[in-house]
Amino acid sequence: MNLCVNARDAMPQAGTLSVSAKNFHIEQNYACMNLEAKVGDYVLITLSDTGCGMLQELLERIFEPFFTTKEPGKGTGLGLSTVVGIIKNHGGFVNVHSQVGLGSQFQVFLPAFQKAATHEAEDSQMPRGNGELILVVDDEAFVRDVAKTSLQQFNYKVLVASDSFEAFSLYVQNKNEISVVLMDIQMPSMDGLNTIRVLQQINSNVKIIVISGLASNHKLLKDSQIDVRAFLIKPYTIKELLNTIKEVIVVNK
Ligand SMILES: Nc1ncnc2c1ncn2[C@@H]1O[C@H](COP(=O)(O)OP(=O)(O)O)[C@@H](O)[C@H]1O
Ligand SMILES: [Mg+2]
Repeated sequence: MNLCVNARDAMPQAGTLSVSAKNFHIEQNYACMNLEAKVGDYVLITLSDTGCGMLQELLERIFEPFFTTKEPGKGTGLGLSTVVGIIKNHGGFVNVHSQVGLGSQFQVFLPAFQKAATHEAEDSQMPRGNGELILVVDDEAFVRDVAKTSLQQFNYKVLVASDSFEAFSLYVQNKNEISVVLMDIQMPSMDGLNTIRVLQQINSNVKIIVISGLASNHKLLKDSQIDVRAFLIKPYTIKELLNTIKEVIVVNK
């Protein structure tokens, strides 16, 4: 933000500010040329402007606290010292190149984490399906979409229904293929409990996982003597969902 504001100030008439990011591996040679750089992986964020640029004498002072060339009230001279402070706190450093009349370029180097690698490791620990068909019943399009994509990603097939009637119709047509019904019980059109009752009439062995935003709905189910295989409270994680489906499919076979 600070770097962008400086670039704007350097281009009072007009100009172009480019911001880009890329992975950058610092090698021994580069590390030798730059005191603050260490060999390793960095993310390099580059901000280039086509503004007034800076003379060498100016470049040497811009990171000093309270150094400013702007009129009183316009600049504090604290922007760049703050920028450097933040970057150093993250183990990074900053380079500047500038030419008078052509523009300036600030390069911010931040040490990179190998986050993607740990994600993959987590993913491989999640229980995957064996192509079983899951019927997802939820009136919120967003929730349906997320559930659908996540389940497909972990090797389940998915049918979605946005209300009880759609759920009945899909269930009747695919009764033998559907392994589990994931059902939100706060759907508006027909009371969720009735939906479960009707599905259980179609197939007394239907495996239903009830999803609800309210923990108290679990008690309501029990009080109404409605027996479902599992109960999940929103918001749930994909891991909880996958574990619950696996349990329901394996344990209740
Ligand atoms: N992109 C840039 N182009 C030209 N000069 C710049 C640029 N960024 C910083 N400067 C110079 O560095 C000085 C210090 O910047 P900074 O610490 O952010 O304080 P301030 O913006 O309050 O002056 C600015 O006054 C300006 O002279
Ligand atoms: Mg500034």
